[in-house]
Amino acid sequence: MHETRQETRDEALYEKVRNVIPAFEWPVYAQEIDAIMTLKKQRNAVILAHNYQTPEIYHCVSDLVGDSLALAREAMAVDADVIVLAGVHFMAETAKLMNPGKTVLIPDLGAGCSLAESITPEDVRELRRRYPGVPVITYVNTSAAVKAESDICCTSGNAKAVVESLGVPRVIMIPDEYLAKNIAAETDVEIITWKGHCEVHERFAPQDVRELRDSYPGVTVLAHPECPPEVVEEADFSGSTAMMQAFVAREKPARVALLTECSMSDNVAAHHPELEFIRPCNLCPHMKKITLGNIRQALETMTHEVIIDPSVTERARLSVERMLAVK
Ligand code: 13P
Ligand code: SF4
Repeated sequence: MHETRQETRDEALYEKVRNVIPAFEWPVYAQEIDAIMTLKKQRNAVILAHNYQTPEIYHCVSDLVGDSLALAREAMAVDADVIVLAGVHFMAETAKLMNPGKTVLIPDLGAGCSLAESITPEDVRELRRRYPGVPVITYVNTSAAVKAESDICCTSGNAKAVVESLGVPRVIMIPDEYLAKNIAAETDVEIITWKGHCEVHERFAPQDVRELRDSYPGVTVLAHPECPPEVVEEADFSGSTAMMQAFVAREKPARVALLTECSMSDNVAAHHPELEFIRPCNLCPHMKKITLGNIRQALETMTHEVIIDPSVTERARLSVERMLAVK
């Protein structure tokens, strides 16, 4: 690309993140971003990024961004040959399930999730033996093998709708105990759950909300539904990452705190320089494994390709498809 055109593009990109990335850090990012843009064209690739990706990934190299639900839907519609999933492994597996003809790459195979690790397919079979006939709703934060043992999936954005869509008095909802309890508080359906927790959100406590309110009068507190129920009860709003983002855009709270992963506030703040973001966040070590450097490497070397065991593919896809048909 002609040097001045490239400089203009870099400046336009920096404008998007000026609010959250200091100017002295930008030149290092700009170099990697340029290399990734070129590789995307060469490979006919798109980058799907979760809302917890760092701002230089989220705002500067991604083609599609969103919560787990949006990423599953967007993956289905991708026309390019290659999908790079800037997020964690279950998200890349879901993209592959929904668009099996594409090459799906995850830049770091170690980008896991404490919820996905908390349950195995055998655990689900055991739950079915213990509660015969009770349908199993599985959070998308699970392996494809666990999804394959389930009746239907859900995300934090549609969990209540999925629970109520089944028209039964009792469901099993796995593996996030807190998400299940938070949904149980909103519905008459009885929910049997599992002891899985998100290592990022379980660390928030009701005391954090009280301290925020004392130290920052008038603050609006938003909590992800993976937080313990006592935290969600004290918050002003709870919803998926996309729902929190929409809340901020709609309500424009002058002073706001998002009880969730750290990059989320950065990414939302980049759009709203007029609002004050208080940032009592926790980092997700899995999400943070994805960097511009390993996205570049993924595209250069076409690694790490996500392959799903053919014995689980069809059943796992069906669980996700049933969810997408609900909402
Ligand atoms: P969302 O579906 O709300 O984006 O959440 C995904 C996740 O991993 C939250 O910890
Ligand atoms: Fe998993 Fe929690 Fe990280 Fe989300 S934030 S990927 S639920 S460990």
